[in-house]
Amino acid sequence: MLADKHILLIIGGGIAAYKSLELIRRLQDQGARVTPVLTKAGEEFVTPLSVSALAGFAVHRDLFDLTSEAEMGHIQLSRSADLLVVAPATADLMAKMAQGLANDLASTLLLATDTPVLVAPAMNVRMWDHPATQRNIATLKADGIGFVGPNEGAMACGEFGPGRMAEPDEIVAAIRTRLTDGPLTGKRILVTSGPTHEPIDPVRYIANRSSGAQGTAVAAAMRDLGAEVIFVTGPAEVPPPDGVHVVPVQSAQEMSDAVDAALPVDAGVFAAAVADWRVASASDKKLKKSRDGLPTLEFAENPDILKRIAHMTENRPGLVVGFAAETDDVINHATAKRQRKSCDWIVANDVSPATGIMGGSENAVILISDHGAEEWPRMSKEDVARQLAQRIAHAIAG
Ligand code: CTP
Repeated sequence: MLADKHILLIIGGGIAAYKSLELIRRLQDQGARVTPVLTKAGEEFVTPLSVSALAGFAVHRDLFDLTSEAEMGHIQLSRSADLLVVAPATADLMAKMAQGLANDLASTLLLATDTPVLVAPAMNVRMWDHPATQRNIATLKADGIGFVGPNEGAMACGEFGPGRMAEPDEIVAAIRTRLTDGPLTGKRILVTSGPTHEPIDPVRYIANRSSGAQGTAVAAAMRDLGAEVIFVTGPAEVPPPDGVHVVPVQSAQEMSDAVDAALPVDAGVFAAAVADWRVASASDKKLKKSRDGLPTLEFAENPDILKRIAHMTENRPGLVVGFAAETDDVINHATAKRQRKSCDWIVANDVSPATGIMGGSENAVILISDHGAEEWPRMSKEDVARQLAQRIAHAIAG
């Protein structure tokens, strides 16, 4: 139920705007109060009268509408809501959001708010696939904007592909997930994920086989329990989850700096496969083949992020969770690692190739804490993440 929740619904200009009328109904059925905002383009698809009649409130349309300014300032309008929902979110509206433009009521409300925002994109498939839109989506995700859809299917324009707005039921479900308090509501959690790339020269780097799947699943599970998640990720194969603050990095040093910038946090989960070494003096020009023989790379040690954070006296997260990827004698190595790095828990796993864990969809972990080693059965990385999130919630809540 969404009783007592206030949703500011921004209806953009797209054929899918008609579904937003249904969305208002569904939200009201759940007990939510919906304040509608209609963009100029949105008015071409649904009338202000039908929106107002359904919502039971006058629809807000104009930035310079002095009557509504006297009743409730635009700033307050966006801040009094529990969630801003943009449905349909057009390519144009998303571009404005990504750029921070504020040249009409909808974009001004979106810029003036510190309330969470959920967007339901709807556009032609080519517009969705366009690099400009994809850049804007990445920016919005990094800003912590949540996404629901778009779905794939036949579109009003006759083409087929991703771009159809999510159905009202799906949008309601996404709103409920966003607004339902969980055991980690009000908690700030840092998650590191993915591999790091250590440059050799501008075109070459040293990397590892981490896909980022486990760290991504951990971030999503934390988000689903209500946490504000800062997701510091190296260049991973899997895309980052929606609704978290994404901080993309390349090297271990960048990851270390991004982790520092994220503090203080209530808990830190260090799932990244950080390179232990970097090339001591990476070249700023591409290395050339030479008659003098093969190049020699000298290595320097990278900062051990987990160890450094776990040893902090000020600003140490309330709970520090490390991962240990081992190929033999897993429990002994991971137990020693926990002590060496001073972290509270270590999630250990056997990544020898025969297990198929590195780069695979499943994991078999051993949770090592003050209480000893606890072996979990093999399960999907999502299930490992959910169980871990529950454990963390239990440890830091209250
Ligand atoms: N880690 C880190 N910074 C590093 C290296 C590792 O934060 N420079 C973190 C990882 O995110 C993980 C944990 O430390 O949570 C264990 O990483 P691992 O590479 O297994 O540990 P190492 O200390 O490198 O041990 P090993 O000798 O097994 O390589």
